[in-house]
Amino acid sequence: MEDFESKVREALADPKNQGEMADADAVGTVGSPDCGDMLRIWLKFTEKDGKRVIDRASFQSFGCQTAMAVASMATELLRGRTVEEAAGLDATELAGDLGALPPMKIHCGQLVEGALRDALGGAGDAPRAAASPVSAAPTLSQDLAAKAVGPVRVVPLD
Ligand code: FES
Repeated sequence: MEDFESKVREALADPKNQGEMADADAVGTVGSPDCGDMLRIWLKFTEKDGKRVIDRASFQSFGCQTAMAVASMATELLRGRTVEEAAGLDATELAGDLGALPPMKIHCGQLVEGALRDALGGAGDAPRAAASPVSAAPTLSQDLAAKAVGPVRVVPLD
């Protein structure tokens, strides 16, 4: 457990691929019913050896540190994967070098898995991923601002 926490701290000291991707081909967003955290993933595809693969992935999170660390790992290891390969990765695989998630943190990894699946448009559904209207998607901050007027107010912590 301590080892896991030090790996999370290490990942957060230099988080990879954080921020919106202006030229993304697909975007996926999820909110966790367990804790109210939100995470969004952007994907950019390219052609490699006749296959459509993920060129770049980025994320934005109003979530816990574990979700951010997993998203940082996941966006690195998604590079070069086809939609089918990416859709086949579960939360533990997406956590990469962080290793197995402690039971209390499994939903944090699932937040990343869910955002990825949303971006991929469902498991292995390549055409939808290609057609995701990124330009129509509001930013995560806009989503949060919109939520602020509803009955549930999301207050991101520093
Ligand atoms: Fe909510 Fe980790 S506690 S995603």
